[in-house]
Amino acid sequence: MEQKQLENEVNKRRTFAIISHPDAGKTTITEQMLYFGGVIRSAGTVKAKKSGQFATSDWMEIEKKRGISVTSSVMQFHYHDKDVNILDTPGHEDFSEDTYRTLMAVDAAVMVIDSAKGIEPQTKKLFKVVKKRGIPIFTFMNKLDRDGRDPLDLIAELEELLDIEGCAMNWPIGMGKELKGLYDIRNNRLEMYRKDGDDRYLALGDDGKLKNSDPIEEEGVYQQALGEVDLIKEAGNQFDLEKIKKGDQTPVFFGSALTNFGVQVFLDTFLDMAPAPAEHKLKDSDEVVKPDDPEFSAFVFKIQANMNPNHRDRIAFVRICSGEFVKGMDVTLTRTGKAMRLNNATEFMSDQREQVKTAVAGDIVGLYDTGNFQIGDTIYTGKKSVQFEDLPQFTPEMFMEVQAKNVMKQKSFHKGMQQLVQEGAVQLYQKYTTNDYILGAVGQLQFEVFQFRMKNEYNCDVVMSPIGSRIARWIDPDQLDQSMSSTRNMLVKDLDGQPLFLFENRFAENWFVNKYPDVKLTAKL
Ligand code: G4P
Repeated sequence: MEQKQLENEVNKRRTFAIISHPDAGKTTITEQMLYFGGVIRSAGTVKAKKSGQFATSDWMEIEKKRGISVTSSVMQFHYHDKDVNILDTPGHEDFSEDTYRTLMAVDAAVMVIDSAKGIEPQTKKLFKVVKKRGIPIFTFMNKLDRDGRDPLDLIAELEELLDIEGCAMNWPIGMGKELKGLYDIRNNRLEMYRKDGDDRYLALGDDGKLKNSDPIEEEGVYQQALGEVDLIKEAGNQFDLEKIKKGDQTPVFFGSALTNFGVQVFLDTFLDMAPAPAEHKLKDSDEVVKPDDPEFSAFVFKIQANMNPNHRDRIAFVRICSGEFVKGMDVTLTRTGKAMRLNNATEFMSDQREQVKTAVAGDIVGLYDTGNFQIGDTIYTGKKSVQFEDLPQFTPEMFMEVQAKNVMKQKSFHKGMQQLVQEGAVQLYQKYTTNDYILGAVGQLQFEVFQFRMKNEYNCDVVMSPIGSRIARWIDPDQLDQSMSSTRNMLVKDLDGQPLFLFENRFAENWFVNKYPDVKLTAKL
């Protein structure tokens, strides 16, 4: 691809994730966006995922059984002049580690909030990760067709709990049964509820009054909205694109995903303001890789085994940071320094895994993997070695001892253990002396998924004995003396063979620190 064309292609990309608390409406709004992108013919198909028809996430049987989305999937569509990549982040609280890493592969985030509930715990957790990255965050206050909280309160709560400025882009005229429309502050017009086409917009004059009179002027809720809009124009945060780009201000949109009200204006404005693919910093260096650099570079942010039970494949999800991906290209895997050919890749649109045509910086591709990749790996072309910054690792808090129920199944047991831990949702440790397996995870559900998949994909029943919640602390091998270990601070090693203690509680950790004041203990994150 010519340099100019590469620049054009890259500038069209918009790659983002939607974060929300379960049930706030993430699936519904995603579906509306796919509808505008022409990917689905009518809204309602994505929701059928619960019955397994639209396979955004029926890659894993367990999701259907539980009715939750446990994998991050990638959806791509073309809308106006933009090529959009939406990365799905599982909303379930137990899947945080996977979700966090997905947030490392996006350039912006959309935060969906249920306007009856306000900021909920999962939103807050995910928000913190996004905020730390300093990327733009756009807010959609959903379910306006239902009676919700006072809009001024919602913005105040957002600012207080999340420590970010909120800037209203539109304002509700009524709510629930009384919902009449939205005052579109940015475009200086009204968007009327229950009207289609261009009819639904009523132009406002410079004085903020309707250009042509309309019965809505007689409504109490309209008069109230006018008063509130005056108030926020006077006393609210002024729109500031620079702050938005850094994630210090979030544009707030109200709407109703279910009735497709306010979603298109949101999508248009969002795609307009959201950034094209960002540059990526190199590890231990001030140098960055620019997205329009002609050499290809990418990092692996997620690995998933057996996405399609019929194919028994393993896929490494990579975010392209620069250049163009071409099928069959030769790249170097930085960790090993080895050359490899990328023959088999796939783009994601739910279950239709089409072969990639053109993919450039900003896009996500799935590479079929036979065990070469690890999460956080960098691949690149060209003479100059590239290594992107490490992805954050989250220290597990819950631990289980794991054994195969049937000793005759040792082979599939070891195979399953080794393959599934590569995905990074659970961490594998071994007891220092006996080599017994110990799994660590951020939450309980990950163990259940692991157990289920061992049985379904490796035909191996596993027995798990909880060790309970523990505090993991790494110790310098040179300072290690095996007599330091006790039941209250179990000594294990991680996959790299590095020793660590699993402390029963804070008290046990403090006791250890007092007993061995010269020993340095470290947590991962
Ligand atoms: P999630 O992915 O964030 O978990 O939320 P999802 O879109 O699945 O929406 C959760 C529930 O909220 C769904 O209802 C959905 O129809 C509803 N919902 C989403 N947006 C709106 C909205 O703008 N207004 C109203 N009134 N409801 C909305 P459900 O009954 O749990 O799902 P289903 O059984 O209808 O599929």
